[in-house]
Amino acid sequence: MISSSEVQKRVKELASQISVDYAGKTPTLIGVLKGSIIFMSDLVKNLSIDVKMDFMMLSSYSGAKSTGIVRMILDLKDTIENKDVLIVEDIIDSGLTMKYLMNNLKTRKPKSLAVCTMLDKVVQNKEKIQVKYMGFSIPDEFVVGYGLDYNELYRNLPYVGVMKKEKIIGAK
Ligand code: IMP
Ligand code: MG
Repeated sequence: MISSSEVQKRVKELASQISVDYAGKTPTLIGVLKGSIIFMSDLVKNLSIDVKMDFMMLSSYSGAKSTGIVRMILDLKDTIENKDVLIVEDIIDSGLTMKYLMNNLKTRKPKSLAVCTMLDKVVQNKEKIQVKYMGFSIPDEFVVGYGLDYNELYRNLPYVGVMKKEKIIGAK
C-alpha cells in the first residue's frame, strides 16, 4: 500500500513540522508499544530538537480484530505533569485505543498533549480524536509492516502492505 521510500519521505516531513512546532521545547514523545517503535525510531532520528522518550504498552487487538477493550500492559516510567507530550502511534483505527490513552494521560496534567500517528484508517463509527500529525490516511484494510503486526509477525517489513484476506484466520 505504501512503499518504503514513500514512508521515509513522509516521516521526514512530519519530523520537520514537529521540529518547527516544538522549537525551544523538549517534548516527551510517548511511543505506544509495540506498533510504534519503527515509526518512532525513524521519526526521532529526523528531528532537530531535543526530545525525551517514554513508552506505554496497550492492547486491544487479538489477531486481526479489535476486542474493544483496551488494557494497559505497561505504564510510563516518568511523570508527565507540566510536560509537553506527543503521543506517537502506528495507526488509529476505531480510535478507542487513542481515546483511552488521551483520557488517561490528561488526568496526569501535561502542559500540552498532541497526537502523531503514521496511519489513520477511514472507518465508520470512529471516535473523534484531534490528530495533529498524520502520515497517511488509509482505507479500511488490515495492514502490516512498518511496526504493524498480524499475530506479532511482519512488524519488520520496511513498507506498509495489505494483509491478504485469505491469510487472515476467521476473515469473511
Ligand atoms: P483502535 O483502538 O481500533 O484505534 O486500534 C488501534 C490499535 O489496533 C493500533 O494501535 C494497532 O496496534 C491495532 N491495529 C489497528 N488496525 C490495524 C491494522 O490494520 N493492522 C495492524 N494493527 C492494527
Ligand atoms: Mg498499536
